[in-house]
Amino acid sequence: MIILGFESSCDETSVAVVRADTTLASGFEILSNIVATQIDLHAQYGGVVPEIASRNHMAVIANLTSEALHQADCTMADIDAIAVTNAPGLIGALLVGVNFAKTLAYKHDKRLIAVHHLRGHIVAGRMCNPALQPPFLTLLVSGGNTLLVSCKGDTEYQILGATRDDAVGEVFDKVARILGLGFPGGPAIEKAAKLTNPDTPPLLLPTPKLEGLDMSFSGIKTAFINHVHNLVQQGKAPNAAALSRDFQTHIVKVLTSRMVDAFERTGYNKWLLCGGVAANTALRQSLQTAANERECTLTVPPMSLCGDNAAMIAAAAYYEKTSRIGWDLNACATWEIDM
Ligand code: KG4
Repeated sequence: MIILGFESSCDETSVAVVRADTTLASGFEILSNIVATQIDLHAQYGGVVPEIASRNHMAVIANLTSEALHQADCTMADIDAIAVTNAPGLIGALLVGVNFAKTLAYKHDKRLIAVHHLRGHIVAGRMCNPALQPPFLTLLVSGGNTLLVSCKGDTEYQILGATRDDAVGEVFDKVARILGLGFPGGPAIEKAAKLTNPDTPPLLLPTPKLEGLDMSFSGIKTAFINHVHNLVQQGKAPNAAALSRDFQTHIVKVLTSRMVDAFERTGYNKWLLCGGVAANTALRQSLQTAANERECTLTVPPMSLCGDNAAMIAAAAYYEKTSRIGWDLNACATWEIDM
């Protein structure tokens, strides 16, 4: 089965062609996966501007589709199904992808499959590790979401815990902004954190204690921002490298401890770390150590599949293929992964 996938939920327009075949080792072969990022357009605003994102998806999606088909050496006649992210995300951005995919499916009489963006991030892990079969535990960390998910079947998901306020990627972005490190903040914080002398006294940040497996990051963000403001008011220059190191260390500790809590509750010994923040090396290393100590296996997708991309959407559509989608398909800004 050859699937043409579309992803436009935030600031990346992506089109991919994926072959799904049970005779392949991983089940999937990526024939093309083009990602056009809009980071440069949004960097000057310090975050994603929804209207600019939608307009830019509109401007590039048709050409990216031609290019993805060309790179895959396919025509529309070779495509068996069209997959598109329809939730969650920025509504205007989602609508561009949904309407383009729907029109293409209608014109070429193809099956249309709607995909939940976060299910795509989880399937990215399965694409790179065939041994990652349900049940497994997922820590999904991105700019818009922070979730602990129990993956019980190919399309059966249960949220075990989630952030009650900010997503962890968003906090990386805000903290980087106050330190003047630019956008996106995650890679900037990670780079700055490597520059510092580890002997400087650490900044103490709060660890919210929530019942169950929920998380909270806004208190950590506020404490960090207040600390920087206090320094500035005292006429002291914030040490961006040391502060980045302390912030990153703290966030990694909080996330790792939540994953361990989830393991203790479920006993699932296969772990997946995914989403844009999974690019963070300190987080990968910390979870790897925690997994090794408990004889668990950790899967982390390669960088190319950590961020938003359409290959993961096309692959996730393969699991969702029995769901029938009508021409009234719409986009949704919010939608739980387990619905
Ligand atoms: O999944 P993603 O590409 O987009 C959506 O959220 O939809 O995630 C983007 C987020 C941004 O907040 C960015 O700062 C963060 O992932 N990020 C990182 C790193 N690379 C990207 N956070 C921490 N460390 C990184 N190396």
